[in-house]
Amino acid sequence: MWSYIQSSLLLLSPFLPSSLIPLSDHHPHQIHYHGPLTDGGIWHEAYERSRDVAKEMTLEEKVNLTTAVTGPCQANSGGVPRLGIPGLCFNDGPAGPRYTDFVTQWPSAFTAAASFDRDLIEERAKRIGKEFRGKGINVELGPVTGGPLGRSPYAGRNWEAFTPDPYLSSTLSFLTVRGMQESGLITCAKHYILYEQEPVCDGPLDGEGGRTGCRDVSSEVDDKTMKELYLPSFAETVRAGTGAVMCSYNKINGTAACESDDALNRIMKDELGFKGFVLSDFGATHSTVESALGGMDMELPGEYFYGQRLLKAIEKGSIPESRLDDMVHRILTSWYASKQHTDYPQVNYQKYDLSDSKEVNGLVFKNEHRDVREDNAIYARKVAAESTVLLKNSGILPIRGIRRIGVFGTDADYPSTLSGCGPDLFCLVGSKRRYWNGTVTIGGGSGAAYADYIAAPIEAITLKARQQGIRVDHVLQDDAAHFGSIGWVAYQSEVCLVFVSLFLVEGWDREHLKLDKGGEELIKQVEKNCAGEVVVMLHAGGQVIVENWIDLPKIGAVLFAGYPGQETGNALVDILWGDINPSAKLPFSMGKSPNDWPKDNIVRDMGKGAYPIAKFTEGLAIDYKWFDKHNFTPRYEFGYGLSYTKFEFSGFDIEERYEKDRDTVQRTNERYEGTRGLYDTLFVARVNITNIGKTPGAEVAQLYMSFPKSEVEQPPKHLRGYAKKYLEVGQMGTVDFPLRKKDLSVWDVKKQLWKIPRGTFTFGVGNSSRELPSKLTIEIDSSY
Ligand code: NOJ
Repeated sequence: MWSYIQSSLLLLSPFLPSSLIPLSDHHPHQIHYHGPLTDGGIWHEAYERSRDVAKEMTLEEKVNLTTAVTGPCQANSGGVPRLGIPGLCFNDGPAGPRYTDFVTQWPSAFTAAASFDRDLIEERAKRIGKEFRGKGINVELGPVTGGPLGRSPYAGRNWEAFTPDPYLSSTLSFLTVRGMQESGLITCAKHYILYEQEPVCDGPLDGEGGRTGCRDVSSEVDDKTMKELYLPSFAETVRAGTGAVMCSYNKINGTAACESDDALNRIMKDELGFKGFVLSDFGATHSTVESALGGMDMELPGEYFYGQRLLKAIEKGSIPESRLDDMVHRILTSWYASKQHTDYPQVNYQKYDLSDSKEVNGLVFKNEHRDVREDNAIYARKVAAESTVLLKNSGILPIRGIRRIGVFGTDADYPSTLSGCGPDLFCLVGSKRRYWNGTVTIGGGSGAAYADYIAAPIEAITLKARQQGIRVDHVLQDDAAHFGSIGWVAYQSEVCLVFVSLFLVEGWDREHLKLDKGGEELIKQVEKNCAGEVVVMLHAGGQVIVENWIDLPKIGAVLFAGYPGQETGNALVDILWGDINPSAKLPFSMGKSPNDWPKDNIVRDMGKGAYPIAKFTEGLAIDYKWFDKHNFTPRYEFGYGLSYTKFEFSGFDIEERYEKDRDTVQRTNERYEGTRGLYDTLFVARVNITNIGKTPGAEVAQLYMSFPKSEVEQPPKHLRGYAKKYLEVGQMGTVDFPLRKKDLSVWDVKKQLWKIPRGTFTFGVGNSSRELPSKLTIEIDSSY
């Protein structure tokens, strides 16, 4: 059974294709490793334990630990059973355990980010963590913490991550790692780093619709942008104590991320002081010696470059044995620190497979179909409702006093099967188009989690309406062939609910910013015919241009529901009927035209060199910072979202107040000017919020900061605080925004450290990045 993996000699793995003979096996020169060897940091005891046990291991056993192969989990590393060290089980992903049953499909990170609710995000993470633990998964291949961050609205995987804003992404990454690891799970922050688009492919599609002829893109970024924009979220995951980090598919200035001495050794392990292990994305390892010396500690999955090849390279002296020891120490330190050695469930599922047992390599695995969901559906529904952004409302919402509702679009319907178009939720239609075949609750690929049911919008709406004696008619179709009946039903409906979507899948960047399946035409057809007003529901994993229809006279309300997971319909009903007052805010900016973004910031051709190159020339100015810097007026700005009530801000103030950082689990080694710690609080801003409307509800107060004018590279403003407050009608509450030294600092490229620029800092507070009624300034002339 499971002992197969624990005792397996992965070095003899049958998975290794004999044609793959990496050049690095014949490396002629001995290269010295100059990355830092771990000392465990705060996990020093765990490190000492791993060092002691590693002393007992043979070379083969050590190598075994560094190499994972495909097994019952997405990848299983080798163990050393005679020393009580099991192999580890690795599985996706960020929105719940993938490839197994009786788990929850949570709203995606990008959706949950719209809640701007720290407590809810941490609760989501804790509950996801417990589900992984219940299945016996040792390492979750997630969360996605800033790779992609969301540089381009065309990137196909932005929905797996939180938001393009580094402050929001940082805080949510920290809370998510902390929450997920609470149950003893080891998280893997990914994809490190500068992974902002999919590879460029110029081959034909293969028989299964897969892309061929693909080459990884090299991301080229300046030092300041790297430190201030792309690195902070990863720094927060290290601070939160993530046990693992996944190196990404892309190259960094020409070097594969998984062999980048600069990214892995110098920045991750030295500057950020990461004490856990770096594992490779699947197929992102391209060498043995370079990867080992570059700082990659484990290959997943397949034993292409580690396993036997690593062993030989060590024996030949191309890699010092101390480096192998370091890999082992890092892996075991994370494992001991998570306390999985004391009490952790055995793997009790079998990826892809719903049968009760299966033979793999002559050994039988049991699939127990353990139900690990507890009462998570309640929370998944809450997260989805709290993350539904109300973009427009004429007053038609919440639904009151009507008798006839019409529901339109395939996106309101059940998916035809739960695993849809295959285990990866990949649906291929036509030559290059992928779409989902019912309501879109999550994207495809490794960010997908499996649902055991979908509370389809049509189900939830019908049940709710029935309780109130409302008639529901529906045409759950999108195409013009049904426009006749769509028009007819709309003509009889007092409220027309139109469902449109955008399904995104790993491996595919977007070619446009429109809806799938002619969504615009569907909206227009319903709008033209509806007897009353139209409410549009957007299920989308990213940017959608809405200009062609949003101002049509009968478009009464628009909701951006993202990828809400299995509780989609229930959460939507909570919002539509006002049982939950919407309070979510856009965690990205919605533009008006594709010309609102830097041109071609997804590289789509191979270029003239050895690999395609993406130059991050926009520097720090992505998303709202780009719009602000270049004076584009977005349709809906970052941080925007309506409520059924109104709020007023008052008493905005900032005081100098020192508070020592108490959150950090693992300290980073980031260099900075002055004496206060980088994560210590120096100032606290504060504002009162009053609910001046007629309905109880929550508001997200947002604090934005502008650096002194001397900082010419800085975009006009940066989010530097947010707080959600629930208030009864007429109630006033106060929220605090702690400002840490790092929040006030810039990366000094010359001195290679963080420093607070001297001069006037301007702060604005309000309920979106463009609605900041209260402003004030402070002068800073100290390095603190
Ligand atoms: C590739 C994806 O990039 C990564 O996020 C995922 O963990 C692995 N595949 C395994 O599914």
